[in-house]
Formats: sequence, structure tokens, C-alpha cells
Amino acid sequence: MNRKPIFAANWKMNKGASETEDFIKSFLSKLQGQDFPCEIVIAPPFVSLPKLADLLHTATAVQNAHAIQIAAQNCSQFDSGAYTGEISVLMLREFFVHYVILGHSERRAIYGETDAIINAKIKKAREANLKPIFCIGETLAEREAGNLETVLRTQITGGLEGVSEKDLGETVIAYEPVWAIGTGVTASSEQAQEAHAFVRSVIADLYGADAAAKIRIQYGGSVKPGNAAELMACPDIDGALIGGAALEPQSFLEIIRNGS
Ligand code: G3P
Repeated sequence: MNRKPIFAANWKMNKGASETEDFIKSFLSKLQGQDFPCEIVIAPPFVSLPKLADLLHTATAVQNAHAIQIAAQNCSQFDSGAYTGEISVLMLREFFVHYVILGHSERRAIYGETDAIINAKIKKAREANLKPIFCIGETLAEREAGNLETVLRTQITGGLEGVSEKDLGETVIAYEPVWAIGTGVTASSEQAQEAHAFVRSVIADLYGADAAAKIRIQYGGSVKPGNAAELMACPDIDGALIGGAALEPQSFLEIIRNGS
């Protein structure tokens, strides 16, 4: 099955509009003339989306071989109204947003997002034709207690409850072991491959073999230029969701180059 790898930068709460501009100008000039067989996505904070949208729709960016897709880091499960601090999917669409990261472990742990909330957000995103990057992953304690598979199955089943096969086809899964996020500790390629193969098998149970063979599953957690090639060589790993190492244009580019 030919799955196009997807490399996505999750900037988290880093880079306002002017830093976004600096990054994109540098990244586009480095990217000039290079063509990688993958999708490139950048998820800035909400307030930097207008700047990113402007920059990526200028003549220079369009001339570049690579169209960079824009992602949001979250969205509301509601349409509009009295939800202080929230951003709706239709607001995101105004800034050429195509992807939205949902279920990130920081949203789960710090903001109390449950599988049910994540499920509602995935469905809301699909209503607006946004593609969810649906994050799942276990903590170290869960892994050490032998609960890896139970945790992943529960997150997948809960997050995708009632999501059609068609909408699953527009969804990317990101396996991010919590113990590898921002810690410098990367899952070994064996650990990552094993978890990815398991995730794919759960999708096969829920949606059938064809859907499982088609869905892209990214790895996230301390991906760097030095480990990208080995991780991406695993048969069930289809790209990366990158935090810290995607804050710097050269290092993001090297991950893409080494991993493609
Ligand atoms: O979503 C990306 C992420 O959580 C991984 O972060 O800094 O370990 O690459 P980092």
C-alpha cells in the first residue's frame, strides 16, 4: 500500500506572527528546488494562522515545489456562541487550515480532554472538511504496567466512535508515546513499529483491512534529524509529528529529508 508520508510541525505555544514569518522565509528558501515525496504541514498557534496563511499564498510560496499545508493545534467541538477562548472549525477554514491536531496528550493531561470530547471534535472537524491528526499514546506508567494495548485500543475506539469509514479516510493518526514527548527519549524503532502495527490492527478490527492499509500513522516523540531515517524506515510508520525539532527551519528540513 502506497501511503504518502506526512511530516507535521507542531509548534505548540511557540512563535507569534513575526517569528512565524522569520521561520517561513528561511524554510521556503531552504526548500527551494527540492522535492520530497511527502506532505509537509505546519501547526502554529492560532494567532499566527493569518500570517502563515498570507505567507504561504504569496507568489514565492506557490512557485515552490511544495505546497505546505496549514494545521491548527485544536478546535472547538461547538459551532459558535458562549464558549470563551474557543475557536470554531469555520473560523479556521478562513485561514486555509486543512488539518487540525486533536487528542494531543497535552490537551488530554493539562486540559482534561476525554475520548468523548476528542470524538466530538473529530466529528466537528470533518463537518468542516478539516482533516484530523488524531493523537494517541500511553504514559510510561501505563506501558510499564503492561497496558499499552488496552490504552491505545480505548483511545482509538473512543476517539473514532461513530466516525464513518469515509471520514476515517481523511484522518491521520499520530502515535505519540507520552514518555517520549519533549524528553529527548525516543521510542526505539522496534517499540514504535510494534505500536504502529498494533494501531493498524485495531483500525482493521473496526473498519476492515482496506481502511487499515490506507490510513497514515505518524510517529511523534523526540523525532530529530538523527533518528528520522530509522524510524521512517519502519513499515507501519508514515511520517512524523514533530515538536521541539521543528522549531528551527534547518532541523525540520533535515527530518523531512532524512525521513523521506
Ligand atoms: O506533537 C508533537 C510532540 O508532542 C512531540 O514533541 O518535542 O518530543 O518532538 P517533541
